Amino acid sequence: MMPEKIAKILCIVGARPNFMKIAPIMRVFSQHEKTIAATLLHTGQHYDAAMKKSFFEQLHIPEPDIDLGVGSGSHAMQTAEIMLRFEPVLDQLKPTAVLVLGDVNSTISCALVAVKKGIPVIHVEAGLRSYDRGMPEEINRVLTDQISDLLFTTERSAEANLLREGIASERIYFVGNVMIDTLRYNLDRAAEPGMLFSAAGEAIDQAAFNSGYGLVTLHRPSNVDNPDNLKTLLTRLNSISEQLPLVFPVHPRTVQRIKEFGLENLLTSSRILRLPPQGYLQMLGMMKHARLVLTDSGGIQEETTALGVPCITLRENTERPITVTEGTNTVVGIDPEKIQASVDDVLATGGKRGRVPEYWDGEAAERIAQVIIKWAQGRIIKTQEAG
Ligand code: UD1
Repeated sequence: MMPEKIAKILCIVGARPNFMKIAPIMRVFSQHEKTIAATLLHTGQHYDAAMKKSFFEQLHIPEPDIDLGVGSGSHAMQTAEIMLRFEPVLDQLKPTAVLVLGDVNSTISCALVAVKKGIPVIHVEAGLRSYDRGMPEEINRVLTDQISDLLFTTERSAEANLLREGIASERIYFVGNVMIDTLRYNLDRAAEPGMLFSAAGEAIDQAAFNSGYGLVTLHRPSNVDNPDNLKTLLTRLNSISEQLPLVFPVHPRTVQRIKEFGLENLLTSSRILRLPPQGYLQMLGMMKHARLVLTDSGGIQEETTALGVPCITLRENTERPITVTEGTNTVVGIDPEKIQASVDDVLATGGKRGRVPEYWDGEAAERIAQVIIKWAQGRIIKTQEAG
């Protein structure tokens, strides 16, 4: 007979995109509480209420059992600080495995500490590749995948990437997309964007927003840390807003850069609604009703594909090619003419229709739990046989 709680899984979150991904995993793990004991650790990479607390509340994520409280810093500082603070926690908890998500600094930091202590690493959202090593996330992805024992993928191209990098196929499981589990689970609760418009009062052209708008997000270092690129992008957004009013929730990194580079004057039009970072349900509602979305986010490329809303990606590449081949995404880069042509096309034709990719069906977290249970049972059997 199997002992109860065969798998003690230490789940790691750090930054905003991790929170949407952990919500269905924690929910499903709690439904398997006889076999899986889940502990939640937050590194503290994102800490502002708007970047953390509101997601935990809206998505009913349990409060983390442990908060390392690392905060912001350079990549080296942040990564090193997480590793230093994580090590004693790991020594104390001795989990069966550490589960990490996505590609943020918290992902690689905790995975690296765990693997060096002989604790298996489970990577959710493995195998995505932009093939752009200038992106900090690309480094985090490649390295985390190399040291993971179980790799869960969201699209089939990810498995091909992993196999090319020498990862054994028996470690790879195509399970679908936990971020889309969250989207489907919460779609009926999405906030109506009209409320945000009326709250803005006379600062915006109410009639224009109520007859259709575009949604903008920008936070990639390559776009916002470079003054020329940021100015080019904001200038183009300013002129697009004359065609289609734009809602722009601004990431803290971008807020800082806009101020530092003196670009505030590009966002003062009554056809641009500049907002602080929004909660999950507010973003979901704004995406759902938008005529188009302009973004450099990875997750939003997937969410717009799931919603069937046209997405124009302001990057030169994507690590999520299925959003282009099957979904509603067009990768245009930051050339102002190309952005304009893509906006014109979407406004004239309604944009790509797309279809929802395989296994983006709301059941990814359950598939993950099933694989983990079987894997943990296999380990126990092997240990018993060896002993
Ligand atoms: C991080 C991730 C990125 C992800 C993004 C989502 C890495 C390498 N990058 O980028 O992949 O798409 O999160 O948001 O892990 N700040 C605040 N409040 C906070 C958090 C950050 O004001 O709660 C400010 C700080 O000044 C900080 C800056 O934002 O220096 C950047 O934060 P950081 O976590 O380093 O990277 P992100 O740009 O958020």
